[in-house]
Amino acid sequence: MHIKSKLPSVGTTIFTIMSALANECKALNLSQGFPNYPSSQRLNDLVTNAMNNGYNQYAPMAGNLDLRFAISNKYQLLYNSTYHPEKEITVTAGATQGIYTIVSAFIRPKDEVIIFKPAYDCYQPAIELNGGKTIAIQLSAPDYKVDWNEVASHISSKTKMIIINSPHNPSGTIWSKNDMLQLQNLTRGTNIIVLSDEVYEHIIFDNEQHQSVCLFEDLKQRSFITASFGKTFHNTGWKVGYCCAPEHLMVEFRKAHQFNVFSVNHPMQKGIADYMQDSGTYLDLNTFFQQKRDLLLSLISESRFKFKPSKGTYFQVLDYSDITDEHDVDFAKRLTKDYQLASIPLSVFNEKDKDDNVLRFCFAKTDETLIKASEILCRI
Ligand SMILES: Cc1ncc(COP(=O)(O)O)c(C=O)c1O
Repeated sequence: MHIKSKLPSVGTTIFTIMSALANECKALNLSQGFPNYPSSQRLNDLVTNAMNNGYNQYAPMAGNLDLRFAISNKYQLLYNSTYHPEKEITVTAGATQGIYTIVSAFIRPKDEVIIFKPAYDCYQPAIELNGGKTIAIQLSAPDYKVDWNEVASHISSKTKMIIINSPHNPSGTIWSKNDMLQLQNLTRGTNIIVLSDEVYEHIIFDNEQHQSVCLFEDLKQRSFITASFGKTFHNTGWKVGYCCAPEHLMVEFRKAHQFNVFSVNHPMQKGIADYMQDSGTYLDLNTFFQQKRDLLLSLISESRFKFKPSKGTYFQVLDYSDITDEHDVDFAKRLTKDYQLASIPLSVFNEKDKDDNVLRFCFAKTDETLIKASEILCRI
């Protein structure tokens, strides 16, 4: 049988490779983006209660209504922005499914989708599986600033979507209000849909304000927001997230959603809805992760790694150009094998594997793990 792959260049991801190597070498694993401490006992109890109270059959297609109300209240509270719980919010199986479904609901063969590299790894395959063409704009270390004239030069009648991500995985940078205004100006009067990946919205540091697309009225009208409870509530394995968008976009999203997922794990949704009644469960996240970032950075300040403090997400990138000029994939592997510390080389997120000599470390780890990791980093 001859199979012609729809994704010929996709192989085993670097996350799988680095985690496998970390296990093999018994290394500290700061590569993949997940916590190594438990999700809240109260949240676990609320999910258990939901199971015991009968939330075990299909949830409504768009999601448990209590959860959609809780999400809607959050947007009102944080951004003074209204998303109607019944018409403009849909619960998804993690942000990944939300992203895939948004792309598949709107992208037709040959449509162009602009993404910014380094980019989270699920965007491009989603575009290509749907026949779309990725237009990648490469940003440069260490600031990963967008040149809006360059973006303008890529926009044409073929551009159907722009995917953005702030706070940004992997660089830990954030977009400013000016970036959002530039995007709003560039897309005004077009039919371009914006997919705003805001999974790290609650992990932003130094009193910065997250610039959600919903704060910019014209942008909001053409945008989807995707979000992930896995990131917010320290349980990436639950794979529950959501997306919100104005009704005219959400109607189309749901046409695709109901046939590729239909509905998402019901007791988890109900448990999360109850947990979110206390806004502290998501508002305290900035302080929690800022302490972890500061701990790691203070402990490695004397090391040979150079860095700009992460402004958001639970990732810190470290520049190792004062240590070696090895390719970042080789250096990441060597660190894992020789020093028992696993990270992710940034080139894998870049266009044509551009290598800036930087590695990404996840600091969603216990303080004990971060202390051990910093001791290793100081020895290199
Ligand atoms: C930027 C970004 N978007 C989306 C996702 C996927 O989120 P989920 O696990 O909820 O599917 C991740 C997970 O690492 C991410 O970093």
